[in-house]
Amino acid sequence: MSAPVLTVDGPSGSGKGTLSTIVAHHAGWHLLDSGALYRLVALAGRKRGLDQDDVEGHARLAVTMDVRFGVEHEAERVLLGGEDVTDAIRTEEAGQDASRVAAWPPLRAALLERQRAFAEPPGLVADGRDMGTVVFPDAALKIFLTASAEERALRRYNQLKEKGSNASLSALSREIAERDARDSARAVAPLVPARDAEVIDSTGLSIGEVAARVIELGRRRALWR
Ligand code: DC
Repeated sequence: MSAPVLTVDGPSGSGKGTLSTIVAHHAGWHLLDSGALYRLVALAGRKRGLDQDDVEGHARLAVTMDVRFGVEHEAERVLLGGEDVTDAIRTEEAGQDASRVAAWPPLRAALLERQRAFAEPPGLVADGRDMGTVVFPDAALKIFLTASAEERALRRYNQLKEKGSNASLSALSREIAERDARDSARAVAPLVPARDAEVIDSTGLSIGEVAARVIELGRRRALWR
């Protein structure tokens, strides 16, 4: 591996994305939002008019799709074939679509190299479901972040409300439970903590408290100051 990697895995809404962004900023490391890649494949498939069950077609898109991640006014921007799809990939529907295609082994295999290419000096924070188990098994530090299903649904609800979306808490709870069940039960790369992962339950903790804990763990392993 060309650069040290911190992996952050866990279920939807556990705060992985925010944690990863804070730690990457602290360390000055690159960031891989692997969930965005699954969301992008599903969206690219829709845009191409691919059949919803076309596994090989989606796997090809995983390799060939033109994706760019950037930052504008301190916010993440995602381009697919030059088109700004930042908001389009963040809807609950896009998350469900991603979770569906993510269960296909050929698609996961097709995304492996693309994900590993993000491990560039000085280091990488990789956020997802199988970062520590499959994609970066030799990572220097592995975090598995959880939170109760109720708290995760509430966090997502508040996020959507902040963005001005009209969300229903009960519908969100149901969707999160469905997605967790699918991501955990699939045969390939299911959502499980790596054997050598530090498991952190963030229920009742602020994201700042969780980040401080992870930054301290990395310091002890001399990953950063
Ligand atoms: O982290 P996220 O909500 O953006 O991920 C969307 C879906 O993609 C998630 O429900 C499961 C899938 N996924 C995956 O299977 N493996 C990853 N490393 C990241 C996401």
